Amino acid sequence: MALLSIEHYSLEYRLGNSYGRVLDDITLTLGKGEIFGLAGESGCGKTSLGSAILGTIPEGARHAGGKIVFDNRELTAMTEKELCTLRWKDMSMVFQGAMNAFDPTMTIEKQIADAVLVHEPKCRKKEAVERARNIMSRCEVNPALGKRYPHELSGGMRQRACIAMALVLSPKLVIADEVTTALDVMIQAQVYRVLKNLQEEMGLTILTISHDLALLAECADRLGIMYAGRLVELGDTRKIIESPQHPYVKALLASNPDFGGERIIRPAIEGAPPLLTERKPGCPFKPRCSVAQSDCHINTPELVEVSTNHWVACPCCLHSNSGKGNDHE
Ligand SMILES: Nc1ncnc2c1ncn2[C@@H]1O[C@H](COP(=O)(O)OP(=O)(O)OP(=O)(O)O)[C@@H](O)[C@H]1O
Ligand SMILES: [Mg+2]
Repeated sequence: MALLSIEHYSLEYRLGNSYGRVLDDITLTLGKGEIFGLAGESGCGKTSLGSAILGTIPEGARHAGGKIVFDNRELTAMTEKELCTLRWKDMSMVFQGAMNAFDPTMTIEKQIADAVLVHEPKCRKKEAVERARNIMSRCEVNPALGKRYPHELSGGMRQRACIAMALVLSPKLVIADEVTTALDVMIQAQVYRVLKNLQEEMGLTILTISHDLALLAECADRLGIMYAGRLVELGDTRKIIESPQHPYVKALLASNPDFGGERIIRPAIEGAPPLLTERKPGCPFKPRCSVAQSDCHINTPELVEVSTNHWVACPCCLHSNSGKGNDHE
């Protein structure tokens, strides 16, 4: 059953006197207890999607179509006050770089316990501390370290403490945005193992965001790959890793040594995605695409189900696979 349903959702940021579309027609459903991995090049809109779900889009940004429904409630129609009642308790987010956002003057345990006290004012202090210790231990942070200040923990430990803070109120959904980016490979794997264990123990639904497809492939049930604000491929992790269809996803995987790419330094994919101010109708990947057709700039490709639970937004690859030629209008 779906916990989160994003339907044709678009988001725009104010850029001076105009608006730039950062998310364009995103449709995505997350089932209860699922780990979904969202990947894509820097600037493609991953964090913006997380913020849109949580209702923390910056001032000047506007919903530009579609809706987001969480647990049968339409988030995009809620007031800030209503959203506040859901945040932390029902859904929470470990923000990109959050491990550096702990208050340096307070111990870890106190900061996690305070999160409980703020959202559940009737909870007694002693119980809040117990809950903080309990969730720390489930996140593999020794509760004895709770008496330490943030700078006294290693990066990996601090990141797990961040996850503990996001989970202390037992939300149904947690969005984990680049939670391991600043950590070394061994610690990255540990943090993802902790997330996976918590998902199993607590029945959590996790939307994990990273530009590192190899890491996501380790833990996610399904993957979504974004390019320039649009989802270009969506499906079961194994299908996407073993049989990518979109030219961008193919190039992304081919350039990654973890997926059999050559161990040489090279530009992953030549060129750069369009800036927010440059986004136009048509396939946004066309200028960088090796299989683009002359008419790819006309229609913006929609996601099409190419096999069960595998969706791709590229008519060119669909036609080349089915042997129907290049006419993809
Ligand atoms: N408040 C804002 N106002 C205007 N533009 C913004 C704002 N926040 C982000 N952007 C722009 O929106 C685009 C998407 O940003 P976002 O942070 O969602 O990307 P991302 O995929 O999370 O990137 P990264 O992998 O680097 O974290 C970028 O071009 C960014 O510069
Ligand atoms: Mg981001």
